[in-house]
Amino acid sequence: MAQTLLPTLALALLPTLAVGVTELYARDFVNGTYRITTPGVYRLQEDVEFAPRADNDYWNVPGDPHYPMSAYYLGFFAAITIETADVELDLNGHTIKQGKEFYLMQRFWNAIQLADRAFVDNQGVASLNYQEKDKIPWLGVDARVAGMRSARNAFIHDGILGLSSHSGIHVQLFVDDHMGRVLSADDATLLVEAKHLFGNRARLPDGAVLYGIFINHIGLPHDQENFYGPGVQSRDVIIRNTVVTNLSIAPVEVPGLQTADGTFVQGIARDLIRIFDIVSDDFRSLVNARYKGNVLSDAYFAFWKLSNEFYEARVYASGCGNFGSNSTLPWTLWKGQCTGGTRRDPQLTGRDVALLQKKYFGGIAMSHDIFKWATIHGSSLHKIFISKPEAGARRQSKHYLVCDMDTMFHAMHGVVGIKVSWTSNATFSNISMSNLINKGDDHHWVCRQEYRLPENGEDVTAVSAPTPMAGADIHGFEIVKSQVLWATTNSSDSSDHASNPSDEVAATAHC
Ligand SMILES: *[C@@H]1O[C@H](CO)[C@@H](O)[C@H](O)[C@H]1NC(C)=O
Ligand SMILES: *[C@@H]1O[C@H](CO)[C@@H](O)[C@H](O)[C@H]1NC(C)=O
Ligand SMILES: *[C@@H]1O[C@H](CO)[C@@H](O)[C@H](O)[C@H]1NC(C)=O
Ligand SMILES: *[C@@H]1O[C@H](CO)[C@@H](O)[C@H](O)[C@H]1NC(C)=O
Ligand SMILES: *[C@@H]1O[C@H](CO)[C@@H](O)[C@H](O)[C@H]1NC(C)=O
Ligand SMILES: *[C@@H]1O[C@H](CO)[C@@H](O)[C@H](O)[C@H]1NC(C)=O
Repeated sequence: MAQTLLPTLALALLPTLAVGVTELYARDFVNGTYRITTPGVYRLQEDVEFAPRADNDYWNVPGDPHYPMSAYYLGFFAAITIETADVELDLNGHTIKQGKEFYLMQRFWNAIQLADRAFVDNQGVASLNYQEKDKIPWLGVDARVAGMRSARNAFIHDGILGLSSHSGIHVQLFVDDHMGRVLSADDATLLVEAKHLFGNRARLPDGAVLYGIFINHIGLPHDQENFYGPGVQSRDVIIRNTVVTNLSIAPVEVPGLQTADGTFVQGIARDLIRIFDIVSDDFRSLVNARYKGNVLSDAYFAFWKLSNEFYEARVYASGCGNFGSNSTLPWTLWKGQCTGGTRRDPQLTGRDVALLQKKYFGGIAMSHDIFKWATIHGSSLHKIFISKPEAGARRQSKHYLVCDMDTMFHAMHGVVGIKVSWTSNATFSNISMSNLINKGDDHHWVCRQEYRLPENGEDVTAVSAPTPMAGADIHGFEIVKSQVLWATTNSSDSSDHASNPSDEVAATAHC
């Protein structure tokens, strides 16, 4: 929903520009993302409403080398990717926005991506992500994922970035209106259930955070820590003559479960299993919380069983513990390869099998105890919270009720006009900010609830993520470990809070 006017967003100054201008028309986007891989000037000639391959549900075709699955596994994540140095993208007064139906279906879209993929290695939708040198599905045994190619020296100016489903946030996937598609009777029944499960009543983005502009270190946006080592990550940024306006969000906090090793109990899309929705008594009492379930959670529990059976057959039953084989490993540590036995599938390395597991089962994760609660009739959820007397057993079997996160376990953050993190030499001038609206609630009530277990008198309360911000917050500027020069700033405050007006902050700094 973000509308960012971009008269000038210079990420750096261009030294010399290649001669010749590539003109871009709406027709250049009909087959998918426009990938800029050679330096030069690119000038938009008309508005672009990006909604490619409607004939294929807006998806790239598996095996298409121009849109490799290793980068496009979430579909078309951008209208334009800049994958090389020295590019001037002149929007020429035009607008790039996401088509409405595509917007409803692709919740991870940015108008412009300054790299050839949406995530760096080891980040993003980890359960689906590829890393350098992984085997590319569909392209044969020897095709491997190449390293990331990013933009350097990019100059993007004079245009409007319109409707977009992602600005550092993730929103529930839901098609409210089926847009004239022909549905079978089965589809129609599922659609009714889906509306019930995913219906977005506020009709606003419901993820943890919405940013107008965000300059970050490499890695997850909400991490205050810099896991890629010390030092500055972005520098020499100028933002001027820019209006950030009409950012509206209604973040939804989702109580979830966590197992002893810190794993969130999650479904295939790394979505928290919405425990609150699938207990029989709405958490009024933990001891009567039996499995009510819904079409989605039923599928997840069945999937988990299937995933375990796959693992058992493919990995565990291989005597060696080596994913790709059933041969045996000598007991002496560090003594090399499997000895006896036959490699079950010599084409596969351990990582390949892990990726196959992801391809078939996504990010699904839970514990045997939770599976038993859902599948053994009459079980009560409170049993998973009982601490075992013996320390070792307790460590392995402990479960937690966790709070302060959205449905993909991002820490709640609210709406932020401009955030600058781990950046040096950033200059802002003539920035105006208006209409930052947050209709979120501060907390889910179950997160402030206390339960006592009848078996041992133990108290159970939710574990809160230690976060400096809450879902109902509004921040104009958020500056984290950065050096920013303010030339002229103008912030006309017309922010609106649904539940917590006292949290309203025009500018914050964590230094
Ligand atoms: C889109 O794909 C069609 C069919 O392959 C092709 O004829 C057309 O030239 C492509 N257009 C662009 C802009 O790539
Ligand atoms: C700060 O960045 C600008 C470009 O944005 C550059 O011209 C200038 O030299 C930089 N200053 C320093 C001290 O690096
Ligand atoms: C400030 O930016 C706005 C656009 O956001 C522009 O219309 C206006 O002319 C700029 N003012 C100055 C003094 O540059
Ligand atoms: C912002 O929202 C207001 C009220 O909804 C509307 O009048 C205005 O045109 C919007 N501005 C932009 C730039 O979309
Ligand atoms: C190992 O795999 C080979 C070939 O698939 C098979 O003949 C053999 O029975 C397997 N051994 C075990 C212990 O599973
Ligand atoms: C800042 O905004 C106010 C109210 O919108 C306006 O009256 C004032 O002229 C602006 N100042 C600058 C320097 O743009």
